[in-house]
Amino acid sequence: MQRVLKSFQNFPYRSSQFVMKQVAQVLPLPIPPVLQGAGMVRRFPEIITISGVTKVLVVTDKPLYSMGLLDSFLCALETNGIDAIVFDKVQPNPTFENVEDGLALYYSSNCQGVVAFGGGSSIDCGKIIAAKVTNRKSIEKMRGLFKLTHRLPPFFAIPTTSGAGSEATICAVITDVKNHEKFAINDPKLVPLATVFDPELTVGLPPSLTATTGMDALTHAVEAYIGKYDTSFVKEKALNATEIIINNLENTYHHGDDLELRLKMAQASFDAGLAFTRAYVGYVHAIAHAMGGFYGVPHGLANAIILPYILEFSKQSAAKKLAELAFYAGLGQAMNDDETLADLLIEKIKAMNTSMGIPTTIYALKEKDIPELTKRILKEGNPTYPVPRIMNIQECSEILIKLCPKTASTV
Ligand SMILES: [Fe+2]
Repeated sequence: MQRVLKSFQNFPYRSSQFVMKQVAQVLPLPIPPVLQGAGMVRRFPEIITISGVTKVLVVTDKPLYSMGLLDSFLCALETNGIDAIVFDKVQPNPTFENVEDGLALYYSSNCQGVVAFGGGSSIDCGKIIAAKVTNRKSIEKMRGLFKLTHRLPPFFAIPTTSGAGSEATICAVITDVKNHEKFAINDPKLVPLATVFDPELTVGLPPSLTATTGMDALTHAVEAYIGKYDTSFVKEKALNATEIIINNLENTYHHGDDLELRLKMAQASFDAGLAFTRAYVGYVHAIAHAMGGFYGVPHGLANAIILPYILEFSKQSAAKKLAELAFYAGLGQAMNDDETLADLLIEKIKAMNTSMGIPTTIYALKEKDIPELTKRILKEGNPTYPVPRIMNIQECSEILIKLCPKTASTV
C-alpha cells in the first residue's frame, strides 16, 4: 500500500522527467576537441588562433598564477601573436562579484575571447564571464536550462584538475553569496570550443585535491549512469570513467607525478563530464551544493563524503546498474548477484575514501540547519534530477543526520 502511495506521489516528477528525457535524447550537444599530451598546453595557442582572436582574457586563480603554472602558456600566446590579460581573482566557489570583476576587465581591455585556466571554479567563472559578454542579462536570469540567447565569444578551457568536468559540459555553477546558495546555468552554448589534457599541469596538484576532484568525477559518472536519462553514449562514457577512477585514483593520489596516471584521470573527468551533461546528476550533487552554499564545503570533498550514503539509499532501485558499474570496474565475479556487486561498489568507494583521508561526515553541518537544507536539496533535486529513487523530506533529513559529525554513524 505504501509503495502504491509513493508511486502516486512521485508521478508528477516522473512525468516531467519522461518529457525531459525525450528532449535530452534528441538535443545535439557539442563535444569539444581535445589536444592531448605532456606539454600540449604550449601548443594550445595554435588552436586559439584559428578562432581569429588577438586578445584574450585569461581567467584563473591567484595561487596558480603566483606559482607560475601559466607562464609557459602565456609565453606561447605571445609567440602566436595573442595578447593576454590575466584575471586571477577567481575564488574556490566563484561568486557574482568574481564574474562582474572579470567582465569589467574584459571590456576595459577590449578582449575578444576568454581562456579559462584552472579547476572547475575558474572554468565555470570563465564561462559565465563569456556568457555575459554576449547575453546582456543578470546572472540570476541565466539560472536553469537554455536561458542563453546568444553564442559566447570564443571560449577555451584549460583544466588543471581532473574532476569537475566543466571542460566538457554545458554547465557552470555559481555562488550567490547573499542567499548562501549555489546554482547552475545549463546551456549548450557554454561548451568550450576546445580543451587540452596536459598532465604537466596536474602533477603539482596536492594529494587531497587529487582525491576529492577525482571523487567528484566518479560521482558524475555514477549519478549519470544510475539516473533515468541514460543513453548508450552516456553509459559508455560513465562506465569508462568509473573503471578508470576505481582502478587509478588511489595510485594517482600516492604517485601524483606519474604523467600517465594524470592523463588517465583527465580522460575520466572528461568522459564523466560528457555523461552527466547529458544525463544530469543526482542527490549527491543536490546535497553537496547545499553544503557549498551554506557552509562553503568544497564541492569534491562534499561529493566524496555523500556518495556512499546516497548509493545505499538508491540501492533498492538501482542495484542492476550499480552491479554493472562494479563488474565493468573489475569488482566481483560474473556469478555474483546484482545486490552483491552493488555492495562491492559501495564498499570500494568507502575504502577509497578512507585510504585517501576523506572523512565520513561533513564537519560544518549543523543539525539545526537540517529543515532549511532539506527544503533546498529537494527543491534542487525534484524533479530536475532523474534519480533512480525519489527522496522525500523525512528520508533527506535522515541522511543529513547521518552526515552530521556529532551523530556520525557508519554507512
Ligand atoms: Fe560535481
